[in-house]
Amino acid sequence: MVSIKLNNVSKIFKKGKTEFKALENINLEIPNNSFFGILGASGAGKTTVMRIIAGLEAPTIGEVLFDNTLVSKDNVTIVDPEERDVGMVFQNWALYPHMNNYENIAFPLKVKKWTQDDIVKRVYDLSDILGIREVLAKRPGEISGGQQQRVAVARALAKNPKFLLLDEPFSNLDANARDDARALVKKVKNDLGITTIIVSHDPADVFALAEKVAVIFRGNLVQVGTPRDLYDYPANEKVAGTLGDINIIDFDLREKNGYYDLIFGNFIIPGIRLPNNYDNNKITAGIRPEDIIIEKNMETKQDDEIQLIGEFQVSTVNYNQGSFAVVLNVSETKIKGISREPVFYGEKVKAYINKSKIKLFDYKSKNVMKPDEELAKN
Ligand SMILES: Nc1ncnc2c1ncn2[C@@H]1O[C@H](COP(=O)(O)OP(=O)(O)OP(=O)(O)O)[C@@H](O)[C@H]1O
Ligand SMILES: [Mg+2]
Repeated sequence: MVSIKLNNVSKIFKKGKTEFKALENINLEIPNNSFFGILGASGAGKTTVMRIIAGLEAPTIGEVLFDNTLVSKDNVTIVDPEERDVGMVFQNWALYPHMNNYENIAFPLKVKKWTQDDIVKRVYDLSDILGIREVLAKRPGEISGGQQQRVAVARALAKNPKFLLLDEPFSNLDANARDDARALVKKVKNDLGITTIIVSHDPADVFALAEKVAVIFRGNLVQVGTPRDLYDYPANEKVAGTLGDINIIDFDLREKNGYYDLIFGNFIIPGIRLPNNYDNNKITAGIRPEDIIIEKNMETKQDDEIQLIGEFQVSTVNYNQGSFAVVLNVSETKIKGISREPVFYGEKVKAYINKSKIKLFDYKSKNVMKPDEELAKN
């Protein structure tokens, strides 16, 4: 129930004479009542952003605002963490091992001097929402990872925070428990109508939960948008890889009547438009596995977008929830595609490519180049 703004936030950690810039000039606006994701590799600076928002760290430079009220600025904490009304679920959950789960959830309320009756009611209400009523008398060490995670969420929500920060909340869960936990967090967020931020290195978290996502790379904010926009229109090669599996291939270029063939061994994609001023004889292209359609006996319909590009040998196959992830051997390089029918190691298969989905990156900068329609307008 609050909007959050970061203006030109940098964070420098100093140890003796060495300095480390963990965040550089971050500008971010998280709308009231939204579910916002922050995605980045390990060490990118995700937890540091969370700690700055929670008030556990002040930005070395820059401002943090809640609903246009300044809460910290230039190394000074103006509003203390206790007054910020933040519920935070830490990366490692940080439950108190010597307290039982009831006491863990009740703890922040005792600190706030709630009455006994109010505490009991609140803990039971949250436990019902999160399905942990029957484990309240046990200690965190005596329940499953999924249950511990729910206790941590209950504790974060206990004092009715204005917003909820989730730092890699699912990383210690196995795949099935993770799906359940995502669904539960989404439900809780919707029921309580609370501004929520999740940080993760796993794109599946932002696809399941976030309305908008920011990608951080080595302390720099690279792109903000809906998960779908970032997946389909990444600003550069790094964002493309952060949002999901993608083949990144350096192609040679061959011009033909204003169009180009993209050539990588016998993997040749014909008829691609490039900006007039493109001045390299190589280009980097990103192609997601689902845009390389593999088949043995089935017939994929070709059109302007989907084109057969040749026959290749299967290197490995993985069955994955109704489809087959196929790795092709092309010029000593592994290229990943998807098949709807079983194909096997060593077989020759046909590969089709969805040309409209190819992401073209400048060979030098690895930044995305304008798509065809944009060029046509110029
Ligand atoms: N208190 C600190 N003192 C010095 N360096 C720090 C401190 N906290 C974080 N860093 C450094 O800042 C960088 C960002 O750390 P941060 O914990 O924000 O990354 P992260 O994106 O959360 O990574 P992970 O996915 O592994 O949790 C890292 O290189 C880290 O070593
Ligand atoms: Mg972290």
